[in-house]
Formats: sequence, structure tokens, C-alpha cells
Amino acid sequence: MSSKKVLFVCLGNICRSPMGEGALKAILDENNDESVLVDSAGTAAYHVGNNADVRMRKTALTHGVDLTSLARQVKVTDFYEFDFILAMDTSNYKNLEKIKPNDATATLTLMREYDDMNGDLDVPDPYYGGQEGFEEVYQIVTRSCKKFYEKELFNN
Ligand code: 4NP
Repeated sequence: MSSKKVLFVCLGNICRSPMGEGALKAILDENNDESVLVDSAGTAAYHVGNNADVRMRKTALTHGVDLTSLARQVKVTDFYEFDFILAMDTSNYKNLEKIKPNDATATLTLMREYDDMNGDLDVPDPYYGGQEGFEEVYQIVTRSCKKFYEKELFNN
């Protein structure tokens, strides 16, 4: 079985990308699929070593998803280590493009390219808003990850 590696990237690696990591891991569990490695990282270093934001963890838990990641900053070697790097918004995407080596082997994409309800390609940053913003992140990320799984990972 070929082993694919997927990295979700947001700004702080404490809200949106840990949710991406948790959502895709939950989908893999449901499919008894052990062939995929999932991780997340931030373009910024402010929260390195921290657990996911308590508000994101709480929302994820209400849907049965336990977020256990510790924040780390994205690094250039991630562009060789991972098959897919999924950016949570266009600002993250642009910052990733700036550090992406010319011979990178990873495919860099906006996660919401896989959202069939898209229009907006950004996952809104929930950090400075209320709890409802975290539920919105959960919904967007979960439906995008389902499509991503079907399209890029299932039966591949
Ligand atoms: P994330 O959210 O990028 O989804 O993890 C944020 C977390 C922290 C900050 C901004 C966004 N911050 O400014 O500290």
C-alpha cells in the first residue's frame, strides 16, 4: 500500500490546520485507512509547542474529534517530505509559495479548492471572533477533507 503524506497549514497552527489534521484523521479512521500520514503546521512561530486553541478543541470534541496536535512552524523540508500541502487561506498560500523550493515534490493547494460549496477559497480565521466561527471552520474543513479524501487518497 502506498503511503501518502498530507500537511495542513494555517497561520498559527492552533485553529484551522489542527482541525484539518483532526478531520482527515477521523475520515481515515472511518475508512480503516492506515496508509496516510497527516500533520499540520503554521507559517508563523507565535504558538510553537502549544496545544490547539481550547475553543477549536471544544468544537471538534462536540463532533467526536479530539485534537491532540502541538503547534510547529512549517519548514522548507516539508516540501519534500509531504505529497500534499493544503493551505487554509490565500495569505498562507502566498507565504508558502515564497518559501517553496523550485524542486519541491509536494503539491501545494488551497484546501478549499476541494470544497464543493466554495466561492470563497479561504477558511475564515476564527481566532479573534466568537465560538460560532469555530463551528464554521469545522463545517468547511470537514466537507473539504471528505472531497479531498475521495479525490486524492481513496483507492489511490
Ligand atoms: P490559525 O488561527 O491560523 O487558524 O491557527 C490563528 C491563531 C493565532 C493567531 C492568528 C490566527 N494569532 O494572531 O496569534
